[in-house]
Amino acid sequence: MIKALLLSALVAGALSYELPTDQDQMPRVVGGEDAVPNSWPWQVSLQYSSSGQWRHTCGGSLVTKNWVLTAAHCISSSRTYRVALGKHSLSSVESGSVNVSVSKSVVHEKWNSSQLSKGNDIALLKLANSVSLSDKIQLARLPTAGSILPNNYACYVTGWGRLQTNGAASDILQQGRLLVVDYATCSSSSWWGSTVKTNMVCAGGDGVVSSCNGDSGGPLNCPASNSEWEVHGVVSFGSSLGCNYYHKPSVFTRVSNYIDWINSVRTSK
Ligand SMILES: *[C@@H]1O[C@H](CO)[C@@H](O)[C@H](O)[C@H]1NC(C)=O
Ligand SMILES: *[C@@H]1O[C@H](CO)[C@@H](O)[C@H](O)[C@H]1NC(C)=O
Repeated sequence: MIKALLLSALVAGALSYELPTDQDQMPRVVGGEDAVPNSWPWQVSLQYSSSGQWRHTCGGSLVTKNWVLTAAHCISSSRTYRVALGKHSLSSVESGSVNVSVSKSVVHEKWNSSQLSKGNDIALLKLANSVSLSDKIQLARLPTAGSILPNNYACYVTGWGRLQTNGAASDILQQGRLLVVDYATCSSSSWWGSTVKTNMVCAGGDGVVSSCNGDSGGPLNCPASNSEWEVHGVVSFGSSLGCNYYHKPSVFTRVSNYIDWINSVRTSK
């Protein structure tokens, strides 16, 4: 799967490990495996229009019937977006999938693309119409505000991002098992150091499995005690040294830090 995320472009300078900022190089999963079709039914493909074609750029999670959670660095104000839901193979026509226009994007007020290491890499996209839920399209569950996962907690990152650093993106949705790296460890000097903040979640860093370009905005899915899945992270960035670089785990926006923000955006706009 996706090992290294790609940070978006914004990070140059300050974050030496970030990947290029080109939108086509968003994170994806390295070292993962094909997902069982439609087993992550809140996963969406965020696509933009380019020369009459729709191109996958990022992942996202359906959080209500008309709002999608993604990363701020995925959004460019000059582009026209749509979301494809119920997908497994991006190139195939698949029954039960739908394409829906994005009518509005709300990027976190404190996001600054020049300061990726400050975090707040989170955005909500309003869909032009509400989608109908089905076996292939379901809402993501979000964690309780403030909840923090313990070190080594096993989660899955999912996405259509690159299968290898600088490699090709995947047509089939990938899943990669990543162990959470707690803040104390991830912020230590031999890991990410001060680049990682408490508003982020680290997972991976074994040098094998990671998110990678094209996975950005997609979910870090973690099991809850009731055997449901909760989306604890939004793929944000990785190391410019490579997606699956040892001790440079994938870094996610910590969803449990933004529950109030998510609720206020979706109820007020
Ligand atoms: C979504 O758009 C793609 C083309 O980008 C098309 O092939 C597909 O049939 C569309 N899906 C639906 C359900 O309309
Ligand atoms: C974003 O960060 C850059 C670099 O630190 C800074 O110069 C700029 O003023 C910031 N932008 C905003 C809107 O705060």
